[in-house]
Amino acid sequence: MTETPAPTTEIGDQAAYAAAVQTAVTASAAYYGARHSTLDDDAFDRLVRGIAAYETAHPEHVLPDSPTGKVAGGAVIGDVPHTVPMLSLDNVFSADELESWAAGVARRIGRDVGTWSVEPKLDGLAISARYTGGRLVQLVTRGDGAAGEDVSHGMGMIVGLPEELAEPVTVELRGEVLMTRDQFEAANEARTGAGGAAFANPRSAAAGSLRAKDRAYQVEMTFFAYGALPMEGTDEPLAERLRELPYSGLMELAAGLGARTVAVTPVPGTTATTVEAVLARVQEIAALRADLDFGIDGIVIKADAAADQADAGLSSRAPRWAIAYKLPAVEKITRLIGVEWNVGRTGVIAPRAELEEVELDGSLVRYATLHNAADIERRGLLLGDHVTVYKAGDVIPRVEAPVAHLRTGDEKPIEAPEVCPRCGDEIDRSQQRWRCVRGRDCHAVASVRYAVGRDQLDIEGLAGSRIDQLVEAGLITDFADLFALDHDQVIGLERMGETSTANLLAAIEAAKAKPLNKVFCALGVRLTGRSMSRRIARHFGTMDAIRAADAEAFQEVDGIGPERASTVVAEIAELAPLIDKLVAAGVTMTEPGAPARPAAGSADEADEPAAEPADLPLAGMSIVATGAMSGPLDGLSRNEVNELIERAGGRASSSVSAKTSLLVAGEKAGSKRAKAEKLGVEIVTPEEFAARVAAYL
Ligand code: IVH
Repeated sequence: MTETPAPTTEIGDQAAYAAAVQTAVTASAAYYGARHSTLDDDAFDRLVRGIAAYETAHPEHVLPDSPTGKVAGGAVIGDVPHTVPMLSLDNVFSADELESWAAGVARRIGRDVGTWSVEPKLDGLAISARYTGGRLVQLVTRGDGAAGEDVSHGMGMIVGLPEELAEPVTVELRGEVLMTRDQFEAANEARTGAGGAAFANPRSAAAGSLRAKDRAYQVEMTFFAYGALPMEGTDEPLAERLRELPYSGLMELAAGLGARTVAVTPVPGTTATTVEAVLARVQEIAALRADLDFGIDGIVIKADAAADQADAGLSSRAPRWAIAYKLPAVEKITRLIGVEWNVGRTGVIAPRAELEEVELDGSLVRYATLHNAADIERRGLLLGDHVTVYKAGDVIPRVEAPVAHLRTGDEKPIEAPEVCPRCGDEIDRSQQRWRCVRGRDCHAVASVRYAVGRDQLDIEGLAGSRIDQLVEAGLITDFADLFALDHDQVIGLERMGETSTANLLAAIEAAKAKPLNKVFCALGVRLTGRSMSRRIARHFGTMDAIRAADAEAFQEVDGIGPERASTVVAEIAELAPLIDKLVAAGVTMTEPGAPARPAAGSADEADEPAAEPADLPLAGMSIVATGAMSGPLDGLSRNEVNELIERAGGRASSSVSAKTSLLVAGEKAGSKRAKAEKLGVEIVTPEEFAARVAAYL
């Protein structure tokens, strides 16, 4: 975290520079004007650094509009002059940069800074609150730093900014106004309820709500003080205290007057006497970021003593005694490209957003939670929307809101499912969290249906409706329970006679002899399908070996990478009770013809590994079958052809690529044939292929 680089947008010539300045000015006006910027914070920072780098190299080209060196990127809003300019902060992005900045301050003041104060950088907007005789009389935004907008109508909406202080003093408090997560959700609910568009994030929600004069609904915000200064009418003893107190003392004074400071949060301001201690505190605050109910985008480090501040002085844009240590962005703009509806183990049907991949807080994000259908509605999301996505630390990424002004008109409504996407039964919509009417049984019905399917245990006579009956009668909760069914239980079901009962029980009994790959496939382990189940069964040979394998061992299986391996290991652990039941029922737990691979940790582990079937006719080949099968392969399902390929040592695949060794192309082979021709892949007919693998048919 401490070595975050500061990437820069490359600007090659004067025209690109002019365009970059224009983009930055527009984005900045949107940001400070409470609309959501077209650029996220990262992109904006990169752009401004690129502009600054270009200006250093070409000072003769500098444009008057340039955002560099200006408070609020030059966005001018408001006409209430500030008593003292409301400045911005310079940034550092790494421990090294912080150290050299601190050394620079020491050089400037001719001594080491005695004490630093360290506190979170709150992600809201700066405000000046003027108190006369203890009463709140005016609220002013930062504007361009010299003058801001009067937003006194916001009084009474801001927690932490009392309308009356604990003492009748005349003082100006400065600080950040933001929305906590809960306040943001409530504001969006109120706003969309009143027919408005959702705010894209808490920051723009706070800015927009503060600036809106006439609003049909109430919103709440929160203030945190980071400054207290004298103003016209402040009595001299107080003015002197305000000028002489260290920053930490000013914050105690503000809190004593009844204003909110970060002292009441899990990340209170602290002091440190060395840069090492400052960096340790930076790490602590960064680690707590995901747990906070308000956004922070960095850590502010300030020389604590008034004398150190006075000696360090100010630049036109920022104090030289304070710096923001920026943390990586936890919010980005990306596109919503799809919505998946998943059914949880309890039958809850939850939508999940599929996103254009975006890097966020150190990880690549492709999916984000959308909570529930009402939430989609409330946020007014459309498919194809640009959306703000938030993720910090281990927090599951979530879609915050659409960026409405980036709409093109091509966005489509998000279709909610008509029936349960898992079992096809009805949806109970009586609560915000939709549930399949089957509740937990939905999972049972769907997983048993899958387990008894043709490519798994292939139990004939067990139609979906029969499974429904068995689950509803409480006779089964998973497919292992099938093996415990007896004659009386089955014949007791509706529409079951002696013959059908006998047939069903015989089919269930026969399923016990299915090879391991079918049994494994029947478990429905996430991220494994039919051919992966075959590979796993062939690789490990026994269920014991599969259960003993760790993620590393799974990665030896063709096609299993680290992510899939750890999911599979976790799933197998979760399925342990079901597997135990299957073992107890006498279901086959070995793969015929597979090399016996001892379970990890067993006494035989040190033995020579068993030979792989390298001498099989299709060993090392990746094979795709397409079109209608004919000749000896006539009537085989695609899965059965794939099984044949794998019995003969090949790897069955469903798509043609440069890695494909052979295409088995039947009638109507279509695009796969065309692609194979283009790539020069060998193509054979089903008859030719059957001849090569005749021994395995
Ligand atoms: S001190 C004269 N402390 O960050 C310097 N600012 O990017 C005044 N901010 O304009 C700023 N948290 O709106 C300070 N703990 C904090 C802050 C903080 C957030 C904001 C503030 C400032 C902006 C600069």
